[in-house]
Amino acid sequence: MSENTDIGHGFVPSGQLQLGVFFQGVNSGTVWKAPESGSQTDFESFRQLAQTAERGLFAAFFLGEGLRLREHQGRPHALDVAGRPDAQTMLAALAAVTNKIGLVATQNTTYNDPAHLAHRLASLDLISGGRAAWNVVTTDNAWTGANFRRGGYLDHADRYVHAEAFVQTAKRIWDSWEAEAISASETAATWSAPDSIRPVQHTGAHYTVDYEPRLPRTAQHRPVLFQAGDSPEGRDFAARQADVIFSAHPGLDAALIFRRDIVARTVAAGRGANEVQIMPASEFILAATPQEAREKQAWVRSLQIGPEQAIAYLEQFWGRELSGYDPDGPLPDIDPVVEETSETRGSGFHGAKARQLADQWRAEALDKGLSIRQFVSGKTSRADATFSGSYTEIADLLARYAAVGAVDGFNISPWLIPTGLDDIVNHLVPELQARGVYPTDYVGTTLREHLGLPLPQRAESSATLSHA
Ligand SMILES: Cc1cc2nc3c(=O)[nH]c(=O)nc-3n(C[C@H](O)[C@H](O)[C@H](O)COP(=O)(O)O)c2cc1C
Repeated sequence: MSENTDIGHGFVPSGQLQLGVFFQGVNSGTVWKAPESGSQTDFESFRQLAQTAERGLFAAFFLGEGLRLREHQGRPHALDVAGRPDAQTMLAALAAVTNKIGLVATQNTTYNDPAHLAHRLASLDLISGGRAAWNVVTTDNAWTGANFRRGGYLDHADRYVHAEAFVQTAKRIWDSWEAEAISASETAATWSAPDSIRPVQHTGAHYTVDYEPRLPRTAQHRPVLFQAGDSPEGRDFAARQADVIFSAHPGLDAALIFRRDIVARTVAAGRGANEVQIMPASEFILAATPQEAREKQAWVRSLQIGPEQAIAYLEQFWGRELSGYDPDGPLPDIDPVVEETSETRGSGFHGAKARQLADQWRAEALDKGLSIRQFVSGKTSRADATFSGSYTEIADLLARYAAVGAVDGFNISPWLIPTGLDDIVNHLVPELQARGVYPTDYVGTTLREHLGLPLPQRAESSATLSHA
């Protein structure tokens, strides 16, 4: 790790970590071939994971959003786990079988409408006693738009302009009832105090809102805002609007660079250096000894990236069928299909860079003597996000993150559902507590309290964004 751990701008490391668990649903990293693998859709899997996380004093239980199955060569990706019940419905059910853990729904701003989504999230916040959060995403998946009447629309930059107006409108909806709006006493003339509920109006390019908000403030005033999206526009948006970033930079050096960047953007946006917290996506493969952990990681990887998965991974980049290639042989000598796709269609691999990347990857694999399977094992997004080692080794490493303030915690994607958190809660959490970097109890009842976030200020008027 580099020696320079200074973040600048008066940022002060809290010295503490929080944990979240990300039940991914549709994805390729959850092992479904192990004997212990359970259902991705039964409520029982969600309940078990959420209650295990709560036993481990986790701050938050996350659900992702994918409004369409992931596709591969024009068909649903048959190697992925799939399913994903509606996040808010699932979290409302989990609110009834948990007491403290935060409940985070990933929901996109591109295809939803603000008044509707704000009301549903406020409902989750009320039902859960102030434990709701919204992970704001703009959604880059090419295929999502085809579900909706609007189809694929909005360029990347416009998505964030739209997202900002959306979030500001939602905040104004959540702030629209005064704290004392409900009088409801025997002596009161009216149930709600006169003039205590403000209407919210917004006129923009994509929707017009003229709304009388229907719910009072919640125990934590309004849902906590997470954000996930890594472009400069996404980072600036988070710096202005979010409480916590669900980041894609778990390695220590990368996390420090990301922290510096976010702190600079947050301060430039007129907020305090410590105002936006960071929790990167991560995977933990742990055991009692380093040797056992190495063996376990090799086994997990063999299930995550079997021969078919390795070929399918390359097919996404090559844009063509590669089933004739040997997964234990060298990378394909054939060139990728170069196909120009519009940015509005999303994250699909953009043709212009395909040949360049294929050349680079072939050279890298040749240089390191790697087969397709070995190469892909080191390339998937999980490869950089994996913490593997003995409980004590990893606890020492995480304590270092806390000391330098690289992150505020980790959002863990279990590789096994529903028992994937058991060893973390039973063995890693006590090691972190022993090092003084992890809570020994929940400090309050709301998610805002678990994360040490202050009650929010009233939202600003969105008049300046009336074009969005
Ligand atoms: C860690 C992380 C998690 C994400 N989770 C989701 C998700 O569950 N659903 C979704 O539609 N997009 C998700 N996104 C994608 C964002 O919505 C966004 O569309 C994408 O990152 C492109 O924006 P960007 O160019 O600003 O990164 C996630 C992004 C990151 C970095």
